[in-house]
Amino acid sequence: MIWLTRGRFVEQRNGHRPIDTSVAHPARRYNYWLGGKDHFAADRESGDLLAAAFPTARIAALENRDFLRRSVRRLAEAGVRQFLDIGTGLPVPDNTHEIAQRIAPESRVMYVDNDPIVMAHARALTVGTPQGRTGYLEADLREPQAILHNPEVRAVLDFNQPVALLLVAVLHFIHDDELARSIVQQLLDALPSGSHLVASNLTMDYAGPEQIARHEEMYASGRSDARARTREEFGSFFAGLDLLEPGIVAVSDWHPDRPADQRPTAGEVAINGAVGRTI
Ligand SMILES: C[S@@+](CC[C@H](N)C(=O)[O-])C[C@H]1O[C@@H](n2cnc3c(N)ncnc32)[C@H](O)[C@@H]1O
Repeated sequence: MIWLTRGRFVEQRNGHRPIDTSVAHPARRYNYWLGGKDHFAADRESGDLLAAAFPTARIAALENRDFLRRSVRRLAEAGVRQFLDIGTGLPVPDNTHEIAQRIAPESRVMYVDNDPIVMAHARALTVGTPQGRTGYLEADLREPQAILHNPEVRAVLDFNQPVALLLVAVLHFIHDDELARSIVQQLLDALPSGSHLVASNLTMDYAGPEQIARHEEMYASGRSDARARTREEFGSFFAGLDLLEPGIVAVSDWHPDRPADQRPTAGEVAINGAVGRTI
C-alpha cells in the first residue's frame, strides 16, 4: 500500500501485515513506558515484568527519547537537513521531523519501522512543512539494502547530501554483534562524508552485580529482548567516524539541559548514546 500526498509518502511493503496484539512488541512497550496510549495487554505485561526487574525502565525510556530530541535539535542547528530515522517508534510529542523542521522548514525526514502498529500511526509522522518532505516506510533494519534502494526513501532523501542516520534504541534488538555492525556499516557506506550516526544501546556498564545477573537471566530466558552492550561493543558502531563531544556517555549526560543533580544517574538510565560524523 502506498499513500502519496503532497510532500509525503507512506508505504507498506509486502502488503498488509496484521497487528498481532497477543505478543509484546518493543514499539508498544516503549509507548507504554513513555506514558502513551498505544499498547495492549501483552505489551503492558512485558513492560511491567521488565520494570519489576529494572525499576528505572520508564526513566530510561524518557531519557533515551530526550537524547533523540536533543541530538536532532543540535544537528539541525548545525545545518543537517536530512534524517533517516530507523526504529522510529510510535509518534510522540516532538517527532524527528517536527524538531528538524521547526529549525529548518526545508528539512527532509524518512522514518522506517518494522512494527505494523507504527505504520497505522504513520500519518502523524508524515504531516510536515510544505517546504520539507517526510516519509514513512515499513521495513526491517535487518535488510539495509532494501531500505537504501527503496524508491520512496530515495525520493525523500538525496544521498549525495549529508544525512543523519538515527538508530536510537533499536540496535539492541539485533543481538548478533557482527550482524549489527555490518548493518550499520552498509547504511553508513551509502552516505556521503559529513553525514552523522546517532545511536543508543542498552548497557550494563554502570550496573552493579545484582542488576547484571538479573539482566543476564532475563535475556537468556527471552524475557528481555534487548542485548546490553559494553562501551567498547557500542563504540565499534562508530569505528572510522569522528565522535562528537562528549563521546559515548549515558544518554542523559549527552549535552544535558539539566544540571547533574536533576538528572538520573547513568546506572538508572543504563543506555549509552553517542553521535559520530563520517569523514
Ligand atoms: C525502543 S523503540 C525506540 C523508538 C525511538 N527510536 C526512540 O528512541 O525513541 C524501538 C523501535 O524500533 C523498532 N524496531 C525494532 N526492531 C526493528 C527492526 N529490526 N527493524 C525496524 N524497526 C525495528 C520497534 O518497532 C520500535 O518502534
